[in-house]
Amino acid sequence: MRIPLIAGNWKMNKTVTEARSFVEAVQGKLPAADVVETAIAAPALFLQTMLEANTEDVLRIGAEACYYEDDGAYTGETSPRALHEMGIPYTIVGHSERRRYFNETDDVINRKVQAVFRNGMTPIVCCDETMGRRESGEKIHWVVNQVTAALKGVSPEDAAKIVIAYEPSWAIGSGTSASTDQAEEGCYLIRQTLADIYSDDLANGVRILYGGSVKPDNIAGLMAKNNVDGVLAGGSSLDENSFIQLANYQNL
Ligand code: PGA
Repeated sequence: MRIPLIAGNWKMNKTVTEARSFVEAVQGKLPAADVVETAIAAPALFLQTMLEANTEDVLRIGAEACYYEDDGAYTGETSPRALHEMGIPYTIVGHSERRRYFNETDDVINRKVQAVFRNGMTPIVCCDETMGRRESGEKIHWVVNQVTAALKGVSPEDAAKIVIAYEPSWAIGSGTSASTDQAEEGCYLIRQTLADIYSDDLANGVRILYGGSVKPDNIAGLMAKNNVDGVLAGGSSLDENSFIQLANYQNL
């Protein structure tokens, strides 16, 4: 059974004090983790404070990015080994903003996926798709290529644990989500790609999220789709009440 995963991605927002208040405010208001899992990916400098404020220990505290080496002379980077030691279970890898603004290539993303697994964490790998590609009909090729490149050399044992997010770049931060059918189509395509690389069994166990302008008023329709196992929400994960609503989408 695929346990739904409602994940937030804070990007470069909030301060340590604001991060602590958020985590305190959601305690006792999230579903049990074996019913609906919830996670917030936050900047590395907030993580220790968030872990300490997370007394109920239902919310998973994740990282937004890390480097592909465990240690070394890489000024300013975040070590996956250090994240793991802190008790961080998830790290986003390959968000479209990392690809676009920080020139992360498929090869870099693949190395990061391997580093996250090597350090005992689970990557939430993002695949993007531009409107131009969608309209030109090229999108299938594009998303398949990104998933295939991210998983190069990844064992079936690790791949079975991965989380993948389908995030059309035209829906990110635009206020307009993909339609429920478009989200389903993208997530289905990713599952088929996993089946082609590994097996149907493995593909059926992997959680695939939709991301791009998910809000309390559109989450239920997205989550009703067969291949959408959760969401990655940016803007609407910043406010605690909105995140609590997303997490409790089954009652909306
Ligand atoms: P958004 O961001 O929900 O603000 O569109 C989603 C994302 O970038 O993961």
